[in-house]
Amino acid sequence: MSHEFAVGTVWLVGAGPGDPDLLTRKAERLIAAADIIFYDALVGPGILAMIPPDVERINVGKRSGRHSKDQGSINDLLGAAALAGRRVVRLKGGDPSVFGRSTEEIEHLARLGVAVRVCPGITAASAAAASSGTSLTLRGLARQLTFVTAHARAGEALDLDWSTLARSGSTLAVYMGRAAAGEVSRQLIAAGRAADTPVMVAVNISLPTERIIHGRLSALAFLVETISDNDPSLLIIGEAVAKSSSDRVARVEACGIAVSG
Ligand SMILES: C[S@@+](CC[C@H](N)C(=O)[O-])C[C@H]1O[C@@H](n2cnc3c(N)ncnc32)[C@H](O)[C@@H]1O
Repeated sequence: MSHEFAVGTVWLVGAGPGDPDLLTRKAERLIAAADIIFYDALVGPGILAMIPPDVERINVGKRSGRHSKDQGSINDLLGAAALAGRRVVRLKGGDPSVFGRSTEEIEHLARLGVAVRVCPGITAASAAAASSGTSLTLRGLARQLTFVTAHARAGEALDLDWSTLARSGSTLAVYMGRAAAGEVSRQLIAAGRAADTPVMVAVNISLPTERIIHGRLSALAFLVETISDNDPSLLIIGEAVAKSSSDRVARVEACGIAVSG
């Protein structure tokens, strides 16, 4: 490991969706070899428990509006630790390159002359597909997969290309979409997506509190009503979702909703 983790290097490491078993072996080695680890709110407790006791750990997590550190401060902390000659791990939920603001950190570190490398992780959409027995693509039915974020700046409307997103034959994985679920549903239907398009809301995926809620696009706002701000949730929209096969998904067809957990 020492040859791939020289002092003064920063590794951006994907921690996956939360279950320690979904960490890559490389991520596990990097965590064990680090001198200091800066971690996000979505890094699961089981993964934090793997950090050796002598490794310094710093929570820089941000959760829906509650910022413990802003991005500029995180950049500064990473740079300072690396320039002090430490082996730095920046541990991020899922994959650092999917809605992970990794570019801002990489560019800042590059400006300082700090070596930075990236270890990928399992993104939430892949983990949700696995838990629910769904394929995100489906031959003939879902030939396109779009990762989109429905997180808007406070007070601003979502700036998305709804007519492109509304095309049938594609699966949408909507990250950070719980609060905007009603708007996502309304805008997609207004742009032509069928109101009865199957949807799935995947909550706390891979954690013991995992829940998977099935329904239709027109009911999306209702489906997310019982999900708290603290529970990460992903909206998956598209025909492929109807084929979920996991026996962990209990279907309650009478009211059009199915929940597992
Ligand atoms: C800032 S984004 C980070 C995404 C992350 N880099 C990834 O690749 O999964 C946070 C969003 O990812 C989704 N997410 C992350 N972990 C999740 C989990 N265990 N269960 C459900 N959704 C999750 C949620 O939509 C959450 O609001």
